[in-house]
Amino acid sequence: MSIDYKAEIERLKKKLPVTVVGHFYQRDEVFKMADITGDSLELARKCKVDKNPWVVFCGVGFMGQSVKVIAPEKRVLMPKIACCAMARMIDSSYFDDSVQYMVDRGVPKENILPITYINSDATVKAKVGEMGGLVCTSSNAYKIIEKGLESGKKILFVPDRCLGQNFANSMGLKSCVIGEGECDPKEADVICFNGFCSVHQLFTLDDIEFYRNKYPGILIAVHPECDPAIVDASDFAGSTSQLIKYVQELDPEQKVAVGTEYNLVNRMRPNGNTYVLSSTKPECPTMNETTLEDLYLTLKSIEDGQPINEIVVDAHTVKYANLALSRMLAIK
Ligand code: 13P
Ligand code: SF4
Repeated sequence: MSIDYKAEIERLKKKLPVTVVGHFYQRDEVFKMADITGDSLELARKCKVDKNPWVVFCGVGFMGQSVKVIAPEKRVLMPKIACCAMARMIDSSYFDDSVQYMVDRGVPKENILPITYINSDATVKAKVGEMGGLVCTSSNAYKIIEKGLESGKKILFVPDRCLGQNFANSMGLKSCVIGEGECDPKEADVICFNGFCSVHQLFTLDDIEFYRNKYPGILIAVHPECDPAIVDASDFAGSTSQLIKYVQELDPEQKVAVGTEYNLVNRMRPNGNTYVLSSTKPECPTMNETTLEDLYLTLKSIEDGQPINEIVVDAHTVKYANLALSRMLAIK
């Protein structure tokens, strides 16, 4: 007999002290089952104050890890421990190398303030926390960099070179990317690690030109993980929540092409006039790994007293990653 996953998930959610969390890039059928949804910042804030002892997080690894770090007393399970490809581009030894790069070029370690995008492993966040640095997300990067600049230090931004450059540009700051051309940390305000999101690299200037020619007057809205040239050529850039707000507040007749993951773009405005800004399907493979069956099996494992896919973070990492995340959460 086949299992009705949706009905079983509803039953288990009623029975168990569990909160199901879903990022906007999840498949529709999984997303609909979530009690808490949001962009990375909203998910972190909402999970921190949520009362249930169990969290089942439908998203990518760094998101579940972040909940465990800010609320270590919670039991956090992930239906798939799928890792964000960008987060995998840096580990703590690459982080140390980046600090050393700046030191070798005349910036003493005590004059470096690291900021890590939340899309990073907890061990990288811990390194950042130990050096007095902070985490940021795509929705608060401006405020966090602004705060970081108050220290008078050089900012080492990891791992997303696009986010680092885009926010530096919007603030009139000089940035450079380690390993790309001449990157002199003494000359730049924001020194970026050379990581990127392959999904958001799919959007090109040709795509923008195509839509502007096809639908004169169309607006272009993108995520700041897109290349700086794409953000410059767009009408709006923002986090997933900010993109939803921007699109949903438009006149229903206003056409808009959106440069972010297609699951989200397709459900932004059901009455149409919203296009995915790419001829290639911008699908985050790891976000799309989680299925209804996975969610069901994870909830069932709690009911059976044999939890699967639990997120475990060692005490040292929790301590210092928590510092970096808490510094971010303290900034309103
Ligand atoms: P948001 O914080 O905007 O939800 O972004 C997360 C992400 O991974 C975008 O690719
Ligand atoms: Fe990571 Fe890119 Fe997927 Fe976002 S879309 S989770 S940055 S790989």
